[in-house]
Amino acid sequence: MAPNSVATIQSHPQLTTPVRISSLPFFHSPSHSSSSFSLSLSHSISHRFHSLSINSKPRSGKKSPSPKKVKVNCSLRDPLKVMISGAPASGKGTQCELIVQKYGLVHISTGDLLRSEVSSGTEIGKKAKEYMEKGLLVPDEIVTAMVMSRLSQQDTRAKGWLLDGYPRSSSQAQSLERLKVRPDIYIMLDVPDEVLVNRCVGRRMDPVMGKIYHIKNFPPETEEINARLVTRSDDNEEKVKSRLETYKKNAEAVSSTYLDVMNKIDGNRQKEVVFEEIDTLLLQVQKDKAKTKELDTFHGKAALESDNHSNMTSSNQDNWRGIPTRLNNIPHSREIRKYFYDDVLRATQRAVVDGRIRLKVEITIPELNPEMDVYRIGTLMELARVLALSFADDGKRVKVCIQGSMGEGALAGMPLQLAGTRKILEFMDWGDYGAMGTFINIGSIGAREVNEQDDIFILVAPQNAVGNCIIDDLKAMTDAAGNRPVILINPRLKDLPASSGIMQTMGRDKRLEYAASFQSCYSFRLLYYAGTQYPIMGALRMSYPYRYEVYKRVDDPSGKEKYNILATFPGNPTVDEINDAFLGKPRDKEKSGSGIWGFLSGIFG
Ligand code: AP5
Repeated sequence: MAPNSVATIQSHPQLTTPVRISSLPFFHSPSHSSSSFSLSLSHSISHRFHSLSINSKPRSGKKSPSPKKVKVNCSLRDPLKVMISGAPASGKGTQCELIVQKYGLVHISTGDLLRSEVSSGTEIGKKAKEYMEKGLLVPDEIVTAMVMSRLSQQDTRAKGWLLDGYPRSSSQAQSLERLKVRPDIYIMLDVPDEVLVNRCVGRRMDPVMGKIYHIKNFPPETEEINARLVTRSDDNEEKVKSRLETYKKNAEAVSSTYLDVMNKIDGNRQKEVVFEEIDTLLLQVQKDKAKTKELDTFHGKAALESDNHSNMTSSNQDNWRGIPTRLNNIPHSREIRKYFYDDVLRATQRAVVDGRIRLKVEITIPELNPEMDVYRIGTLMELARVLALSFADDGKRVKVCIQGSMGEGALAGMPLQLAGTRKILEFMDWGDYGAMGTFINIGSIGAREVNEQDDIFILVAPQNAVGNCIIDDLKAMTDAAGNRPVILINPRLKDLPASSGIMQTMGRDKRLEYAASFQSCYSFRLLYYAGTQYPIMGALRMSYPYRYEVYKRVDDPSGKEKYNILATFPGNPTVDEINDAFLGKPRDKEKSGSGIWGFLSGIFG
């Protein structure tokens, strides 16, 4: 077809091509999803973390230390996050009691969690006991799962946390790093070995109040308490020595992870004096967090004002690499998939950070276009996984939702495209850092899926099927979600004919209005001559908060293809506007009646 001959906009066909579900590409890539995508992730969240060095002077103390630098890591949106470490009996538990009293943080002590499992006689407790008795570390998978589960609870995220006795090995520290769980401050209590043994042997616990005593240093207040005190089974000299050895083997590997926020404190002083120093540090951290937040709000506003995003293209705004080439080759290479995952991720994160709550991502690269003869469901799932893991890395509880069958009895239906996808999601590798079941959960679509602790919802290809409409369930779900973000990936919310072939007219306007209420945060489609899917003529891309950009694909003399930008639009351009951009017509010129370019397909409306 000659470029200026009459053409039509490609109609919006229903799914007529049989869908082939391809094999699943790189499904086992947890480290991969965490590491290979960490680039984009750290890019997006690094602005929230700032290492600060502040001079602080403890107010008093027996051995008044010289003024030293408080090393903190300020994360802007979160409450205080503290790690406390030190050898057995260095006073971690004792200081935690005082910190919790003053700061109300959620105290997570792996030692206490494990002891409680042991005394309840659970399977975990039985296993843990063997190691604890020998002064060895309990296997990582047990401890890490416990900590992750506690960290992901609503109260922990709201009040802040105080991690005591975790991480205690390099691999535990790495698990937290991978999930981007970082403390604002890492406190290390320093106590000489000979003091430690005496402290352990003299320690007594109050099983009723959970308070820690020492027969000499801190005897109980009343006879009644004294009568009920118990000695920990690992508090004899031999076991203390073995615990100390285990501690020394691992201490450096753990502390080296937190050197930037580490503050070593002399723990061989009266507990009140030790606390006074810790208190000074924590107050300083709180102050700095508030200051950083203020600055960030200021800079955020300034950036928004100066950017005037709605008038900008993304090309020179966020180190965007341009459109990748060879997009007609299916399956797409791993690099191309990763490119698009990163591209979608950046746009979506920007929209969520800006407080947008009803979002949609529409991406119809050939391998994600159900109109083509190969539709790779695995790519769609991978995209969902990248988004989910990245929000989970950011401390959010993400629910990845996929619709179940709709309708009832003989009328129940499930879109062909989604058949079996929930199982695939469940079987996917979500990493072995305990994210699945804590920070990430799989759900379906509907109000019942919205739990109090969920922070964000990712809905994979919600769609109407012939005779079944998903919109009521979707609406109920977004109503229940309130102002929590709901992100639709490749939704298909257009009305479809009922099984009788008659359009569903009841409430149609309301449904369409609702479907249109989702704001596009990412859109990408290839442009072809109407009615064809080859060759690629160009692309239309939008990445929040920038403009829609029309690109033309050209082959340079060396045979290499590239995409040149032709025009940008504040909103989704019409086919006529795209035609004009390709024909080089000025924007204000009267539109031609027909166009030569058609979108690849209009199915994701
Ligand atoms: P855990 O319970 O964490 O034991 P720990 O690290 O050995 O530390 P302690 O609880 O013995 O001492 P603390 O520093 O809290 O001191 P406290 O304030 O009580 O872990 C137990 C076991 O669980 C481990 O051995 C391991 O097997 C397993 N485990 C735990 N976490 C794990 C993980 N992440 N991975 C794998 N396995 C894990 O004080 C001690 C005594 O000194 C008290 O009597 C107190 O009154 C006294 N005292 C405190 N401060 C002072 C002071 N300033 N002056 C004088 N006396 C003081």
